[in-house]
Amino acid sequence: MMLRHFLQFKDLSRDELLYLFERSRVIKSRFKRYQPYHPLTDRTLAMIFEKSSTRTRLSFEAGMHQLGGSAIYLNTRDTQLGRGEPVEDAGEVISRMVDIVMIRTFEQEIIERFAAHSRVPVINGLTNEYHPCQILADIFTFIEHHGSIQGKTVSWIGDSNNMCNTWLQAAEVLDFNVHVSTPPGYEVEPERAGLYGTDHFESFADPMDACRGADLVTTDVWTSMGWEAENDERLKDFADWQVDAEMMGVAKSDAVFMHCLPAHRGEEVTADVIDGPQSVVWDEAENRLHVQKALMEFLLLGKVES
Ligand code: CP
Ligand code: NVA
Repeated sequence: MMLRHFLQFKDLSRDELLYLFERSRVIKSRFKRYQPYHPLTDRTLAMIFEKSSTRTRLSFEAGMHQLGGSAIYLNTRDTQLGRGEPVEDAGEVISRMVDIVMIRTFEQEIIERFAAHSRVPVINGLTNEYHPCQILADIFTFIEHHGSIQGKTVSWIGDSNNMCNTWLQAAEVLDFNVHVSTPPGYEVEPERAGLYGTDHFESFADPMDACRGADLVTTDVWTSMGWEAENDERLKDFADWQVDAEMMGVAKSDAVFMHCLPAHRGEEVTADVIDGPQSVVWDEAENRLHVQKALMEFLLLGKVES
């Protein structure tokens, strides 16, 4: 089987993504019925974390166990990577001992270098630039609630961060639209987002305009991991980019609200929105488990029919 990685959302084609969403549905429904499914018996996942995590660690570790394999957690502080071992050498060595690797790190370039020296599939568990596993879960959650995302409108309110970049890539691959509103000075950089064109996104100075008529409204923390030194400045700059009931009120009446979590109520979103009837954040978090099981199965076994 050809070696495949999932380093950016566009590493998978539209057809492969649609297959993965259908496969996630099957794997989820089997799991809900307590039906054992162990296609990855004796396979090992290494999870390398250079940043904190709750959901990503849990969903990958639990997911691998549920598929019959095992998972090993490594964090930079306890490994030779933290003492300067070249990432290329780590890729060579780690990929001789396990079957699949997930990495959460800083620059995208780090995971690209690791993958270039890996004999096994590498999955991006978040970098400064992208968070593709989260967007897999988000789109699967959207499909569960509203059907196909093709032609729909997603409003992104806040920072043009790894989540925003990945939404923009996903819009190109799956043919939907993203309305982005960021404060001045925090605009999308298409090159950093890895876009081939700008056909699928539109920028709005006023977040209310970005939310008008949307099928999905979403946001994320104002200060991502790695940017903590800018926190005080960002609290001021982003003050008008808080998703509140008024913004949800101009979206479609059946629009859903998403947030990858962890959230800061009273900053990027009000409590009445994230804890309100349009919020699907708990489904969204749970679906990390199901889509990543489908992803690991696909990267290790290809398309399966069982
Ligand atoms: N959404 C997400 O990736 O959460 P964690 O940082 O807890 O993994
Ligand atoms: N944009 C956030 C996402 C956390 C899951 C960060 O990178 O910190």
